[in-house]
Amino acid sequence: MKGIILAGGVGSRLHPITQGVSKQLLPIYDKPMIYYPLSVLMLADIREILIITTPEDQQAFIRLLGDGSQWGIKLSYIVQLKPEGIAHALILGKIFVGRDDVCLVLGDNVFYGTGLIPLLKNAVFEVTENRKACIFGYYVNDPERYGVAQFNQEGDVISIEEKPQNPKSKYAVVGLYFYPNDAVQKVGNITSSVRGELEITSLNQLYLDEKRLILQKMGRGFAWLDTGTHESLMEAGSFIQTIEKRQGLKVACLEEIAFKKHWISVTKLDEAIQHYGNNVYGDYLKQLENDISYKYVL
Ligand code: TTP
Repeated sequence: MKGIILAGGVGSRLHPITQGVSKQLLPIYDKPMIYYPLSVLMLADIREILIITTPEDQQAFIRLLGDGSQWGIKLSYIVQLKPEGIAHALILGKIFVGRDDVCLVLGDNVFYGTGLIPLLKNAVFEVTENRKACIFGYYVNDPERYGVAQFNQEGDVISIEEKPQNPKSKYAVVGLYFYPNDAVQKVGNITSSVRGELEITSLNQLYLDEKRLILQKMGRGFAWLDTGTHESLMEAGSFIQTIEKRQGLKVACLEEIAFKKHWISVTKLDEAIQHYGNNVYGDYLKQLENDISYKYVL
């Protein structure tokens, strides 16, 4: 399975900050925002990843992330000239995806919680074994801002409405979507919405019509954080700071994930430690290297 991170967009709600720098490069406490969705793809065992950026910001992403070899993954880049919608990623990524299945993740979405890995593994299973699309629902206070799922008595999803005035549930569809390869063809059959975007909800509707859409709920012990406004950006940073301070473990440390998955050797980890020197991030990696429990495989 391949992965695509959508790191374009205008970030208009964060202006003037995002007039000079892409939203997904802004810090969430101690790491750039894009580390968080990238960590999710890595946790789902996805190692070939395409990063979609605006033309102006592509170089900055390349400077930050490079070719991914430092984490044992392969990164490639493509620009999106203007925000044409989340489903547009599958048009831009058609050649990259090839004959594989694909996972899309929004570059500004942060996920944290116990049970994330089994949830991801199950999504990969549904796609690869059952040829179903798999999305996730999260109970929120303000569902009208998102795609909203409606369920039948059995708990199966029966409709998804994009930003409804009268939401049929409080379950928002989060920015993480797993699709079988035919999504690349299906996206050619959807048309732009009134706001001029290829909506991911329209693609999900096609799978729903074919009874090939699974929605897994992320429970209340789970955090799906918004980072699109000044307030939510601050809150996301504080959340990560609180967790990391309490546990002494980092959320979305890409070297840690790669090391625990045995995608990088001790030598590569040493290179990262040298690179960061004696800063907090480097100290964390040093501690990781000395921790015998790293033999545990994620
Ligand atoms: P949004 O939050 O919908 O848009 P935005 O990031 O441009 O912010 P604002 O609403 O404040 O203007 O986008 C969600 C994520 O998807 C974000 O990471 C940007 C990305 N995105 C693209 O890369 N291309 C697109 O065409 C769209 C619509 C979003």
